[in-house]
Amino acid sequence: MGGGPHIIAMAIRKIARMGHPVLLKPAEWIDDPTAPEIQHLVDDMLETLIDANGAGLAAPQVYEPLRLVMFQAPGERSVDPGLSEEEAFDHTAPLTVLINPVITPQSDEMEKGWEGCLSIPGMRGLVPRHTDIIYKGTTVDGEVLERRARGFHARVVQHECDHLEGILYPERMDDLSELIFETEAVHWMKK
Ligand code: NI
Repeated sequence: MGGGPHIIAMAIRKIARMGHPVLLKPAEWIDDPTAPEIQHLVDDMLETLIDANGAGLAAPQVYEPLRLVMFQAPGERSVDPGLSEEEAFDHTAPLTVLINPVITPQSDEMEKGWEGCLSIPGMRGLVPRHTDIIYKGTTVDGEVLERRARGFHARVVQHECDHLEGILYPERMDDLSELIFETEAVHWMKK
C-alpha cells in the first residue's frame, strides 16, 4: 500500500446463505471489542441489516466468523393481545451491538414463535425458545452490557447467538412441517 489517504467507507456486505460452511462453524472470541476493525465490521453489518430490513444479524452471516451480533431490542412494554408478538415488535427500537455474548435462561419455560433468517430467505419456521433470559456481553466501547429479556426480545437474541455456534433455526425446530414459505403464512394465522 502506498502512502495515500486511507479511505474508510461503509459497505453493504453479501449475506451467506444456508449451506455455506461459514454458517455451520463456531465463531471466534473477540479479544479486543474496541479494535478499529471491529468498529468497521459493525458499521458494515449495520448498513447490511438496514438494507436487508432484518431484525438482527450475526457476524458469520457476513462471512466473518467472530462472536458479534446486532439486533433491535424492544423495550419491556406489554404486548397488545390482539397482535402477535412479531406484529407488536417495534422496528424503530434501538439497536444493540453485542460482542462475545453469553445467554443464561431464567427458567425452563419454552415457547414456540415464528422466525425468519436473512440466511434462509423466503422461509419461516415455528421455533421453540426460552421465554426468559439474561444476556451479557461487551459493547463496541468495551463496556459490559447485561439485560433481562422476555418474549420476542429473548427470541431474537437466542436466534442471533445461535449463529455464533453454527446453528440455524431449523435445527432448533421440533416439527419440520412447521417450516414454511413466507408466501404461505396466511394459512397459519390464528391457527
Ligand atoms: Ni438468522
